[in-house]
Amino acid sequence: MRLLIKNGTVVTASDTYQADVLIEDEQIAAVGHNLSADTVIDAGGKYVIPGGIDVHTHLNMPFGGTFSSDDFFTGHRAAAFGGTTTHIDFAIQSKGTTLRQTLDTWLAKAEGKAVIDYGFHIAITDLPDSIMEEIPQCVEWGVTSLKLFMAYKGALMVDDATLFRAMQQAAANGLLICVHAENGDAIDILINQALAAGNTAPIHHALTRPPELEAEATYRAIRLAEVAGAPLYVVHLTNAGALEAVRLARGRGAPIYAETCVQYFFFTKADLDRPGFEGAKWVCSPPYREQHDQVALWQGVADNSLQVVSTDHCPFWFEGGQDGRPAGKELGRESFAKIPNGCPGIEDRMLVLYTQGVRGGRFSLNRWVELCCTNPAKLFGMYPQKGVIAPGSDADIVVWDPEATYTISAATQHHATDYNLYEGMQVTGKPAVVLARGRVLVENGQWKGEQGTGRFVPRKPFTR
Ligand code: URP
Ligand code: ZN
Ligand code: ZN
Repeated sequence: MRLLIKNGTVVTASDTYQADVLIEDEQIAAVGHNLSADTVIDAGGKYVIPGGIDVHTHLNMPFGGTFSSDDFFTGHRAAAFGGTTTHIDFAIQSKGTTLRQTLDTWLAKAEGKAVIDYGFHIAITDLPDSIMEEIPQCVEWGVTSLKLFMAYKGALMVDDATLFRAMQQAAANGLLICVHAENGDAIDILINQALAAGNTAPIHHALTRPPELEAEATYRAIRLAEVAGAPLYVVHLTNAGALEAVRLARGRGAPIYAETCVQYFFFTKADLDRPGFEGAKWVCSPPYREQHDQVALWQGVADNSLQVVSTDHCPFWFEGGQDGRPAGKELGRESFAKIPNGCPGIEDRMLVLYTQGVRGGRFSLNRWVELCCTNPAKLFGMYPQKGVIAPGSDADIVVWDPEATYTISAATQHHATDYNLYEGMQVTGKPAVVLARGRVLVENGQWKGEQGTGRFVPRKPFTR
């Protein structure tokens, strides 16, 4: 199969230039001029960018007695409509299971459903010696990053000893450690105090998880990683204090990396205080912060203190538990502590970041590609197979129409949710055609994909 994307402007993390892109079977065969093929996609007036890579998602994840509402088909279809063609999900170890069993459980979730390519981080919740010994094998399985939660006491949280041991083992074996950095012990006390005082509304989710407790945990994780000699990737960083800890560490030359998630640029803790139970839609951890934190995050992506923007896509129905839907946010009507944590966004990321970041003059077109496509591939061992338009790379390509307008709405989105955080937001710029390894998934707003065509991507060990 030969397919030519003609007349477009190729955009990579470093360059913007006019060229045609020839695809043969699943890969990019050539980028240049005077190329030909039987099938041609006209990209005149459009950008040709690498498919988006979202390294932080939770599809079909058990949480708080229910499951996140997108599975590996609906989540992938939503991703594709938003220009994302690869993601890394979290395979979460249940206590008493091995890392291999954990990976197999998550591979089975994707089997027969996947449409885009995917990898897994394994989230360790239990680290006896037998699991320590299993960590080096993760690299052979193509899983080269581990995640540890410093919060969610009594569920996913690990103590510092576990975190530190995992860091040492990861450092010795070429794995990147990812952390959810919040002080789970202190948060647990604040939650119990709030509930004892009768404070049950969604806003108390934010009030019991103050930014200082994220900044403290971020600083602690960084210092532990430096002593362990481990590279560290801080997930979903939300606030100026935590960002400062990362900036200082990077200034020391330490291999410390961080992402923020797109929604933290747009929402504040005031959204959790919307009337009635509405605020539950915005309950995720860490919570939304203040406007000055948003300013700090925009600065952080512009000055490379933050290297990636992902989504932490972890959708729940607002009104679940009926019509075949898993239970959703309604679980927490009587207590904010029972609201499933997480928000949808895999379809929205590239759109809102292009509109507000690039068109809003906050960073360049190339930086947008770097944050959403290239840096995720590089940091997580998929480059140059993914994250770039170049001969030999997978033909994961988005033909991006910079002038197309769209009003984001739950009524037209593809997430399996009954709400969208960005409801009513007008964006300018959206995918016209989305290809994953040469297969057209979306064309002019129409779904063309086929379930079961996405593949597991074995990733390379971390290198600096
Ligand atoms: O609220 C969130 N972020 N839910 C997903 C789990 C996590 O902490 O990443
Ligand atoms: Zn987290
Ligand atoms: Zn997450």
